Amino acid sequence: MEPKPRLSPEIVAHLLSTRRTIHDFTSGLPPQELIHAAIDAARWAPNHRLTEPWHFYLLGRETADAIADLNAELIAASGDAAGAERKRKRWRAVPGWLLLTCERSEDPVRAQEDYAACCCAAQNMLLYLWSAGVGAKWTTGQVVRDPRFFELTWIDPERETVVGLFWYGYAAEVPATARKPVDEVLVRLP
Ligand SMILES: Cc1cc2nc3c(=O)[nH]c(=O)nc-3n(C[C@H](O)[C@H](O)[C@H](O)COP(=O)(O)O)c2cc1C
Repeated sequence: MEPKPRLSPEIVAHLLSTRRTIHDFTSGLPPQELIHAAIDAARWAPNHRLTEPWHFYLLGRETADAIADLNAELIAASGDAAGAERKRKRWRAVPGWLLLTCERSEDPVRAQEDYAACCCAAQNMLLYLWSAGVGAKWTTGQVVRDPRFFELTWIDPERETVVGLFWYGYAAEVPATARKPVDEVLVRLP
């Protein structure tokens, strides 16, 4: 029997292939209801044994600025004072900030599966936002591994790991990117 499409596969493929990581945003902040709806969509991600290991944090201006400052401090400590100030300004101009963490597990298999589930949740969120005209960037720079990051977000690093910091807003520019052809990444086994 022919499968009955639930949604136009062409539209889904278009959404998947046109979503881009956005590095530069205009100053507008997307409505909070939309961000809430994206988190709502995110939590329908597959997750083994229904562990639902994700935690979402919506960061206010005070926390976002503190992260921007910590990031600048880390860059300055590496000897690049001018670069640190450039980044501070750039990060402070990012309109929306969200943090996604994953619950830690002593069991390495569960830890890996839970991280995988959180990545699926992240992609759900990004795609929902993109479909609504909101761009985002998933970042995992040095700042999210610094102990001070956990202090200023009130997150216990013994219980949660950072999956990513997410910037969101309206794209000032949509970068171009490419992928290898399917044949380069597909192996057919007998
Ligand atoms: C786990 C993860 C971490 C990432 N961290 C960063 C980052 O720190 N800085 C950055 O500019 N992009 C980061 N990205 C975005 C990738 O650079 C981006 O997805 C890639 O260049 C492909 O572009 P596209 O998302 O537009 O397809 C990250 C993506 C993932 C999945």
